[in-house]
Amino acid sequence: MFVFSNLAISIDGKIGTAKRGLYRLGTNNDWNEVKRLRKKADAIIIGGATFRSLPRAVPGVLNVVISKSMKSKKGLIIAGKKGDIRYSGPKQLLAHLKKRGCKNILIEGGGEIMWEFVKYIREFHVTLTPKILGGRTAPTLVDGRGFAPGKELNLKLKAVKRIKNELFLIFTSAPRSN
Ligand SMILES: NC(=O)c1ccc[n+]([C@@H]2O[C@H](COP(=O)([O-])OP(=O)(O)OC[C@H]3O[C@@H](n4cnc5c(N)ncnc54)[C@H](OP(=O)(O)O)[C@@H]3O)[C@@H](O)[C@H]2O)c1
Repeated sequence: MFVFSNLAISIDGKIGTAKRGLYRLGTNNDWNEVKRLRKKADAIIIGGATFRSLPRAVPGVLNVVISKSMKSKKGLIIAGKKGDIRYSGPKQLLAHLKKRGCKNILIEGGGEIMWEFVKYIREFHVTLTPKILGGRTAPTLVDGRGFAPGKELNLKLKAVKRIKNELFLIFTSAPRSN
């Protein structure tokens, strides 16, 4: 199973504004990249907050929404207390998807869900957009508890592509157990 992520960030590392909700950070070139990567995925995993910010479920791919508050919805897997399947952590959810035949899993955020899955992501696709959003409560690429000094994830830069004012970056991460 291959787990990868794709999100757009501002140059200050935010994935959205402090107001949250739907906000498109990237250009149409980024949107094309979003669509291209979704085609490679058997399932996408998103958090309840991100799902609620979307106009509709992502078409053409299994949508897995992690949520404490949402109930089961047609065409989606809700992973949570009230959902189709009980969510008891990333390892269990990925094992469940593997059993369902999913090979390529795309994590699309937001920041809380990125933290949940960060150790399982082998490839981070990041679109660096020429914006500064600021805001101490604005969501960032990876939120959650964060790593202690010395325990951070160290990545390798695999590819850089520039299209006009945006940089399309791919970082790889080696598996680790702790
Ligand atoms: N720039 C980008 O590429 C990009 C991509 C994605 C999202 N975003 C933006 O990021 C923002 C959302 O990010 P976020 O970090 O606030 O939220 P998020 O990661 O999308 O979702 C957080 C939610 O996930 C659920 N959750 C988290 N941990 C859980 C657990 N252990 N068990 C069950 N459910 C759990 C809860 O859902 P419930 O509240 O439903 O219980 C929680 O509120 C939005 O503004 C969105 O537009 C930007």
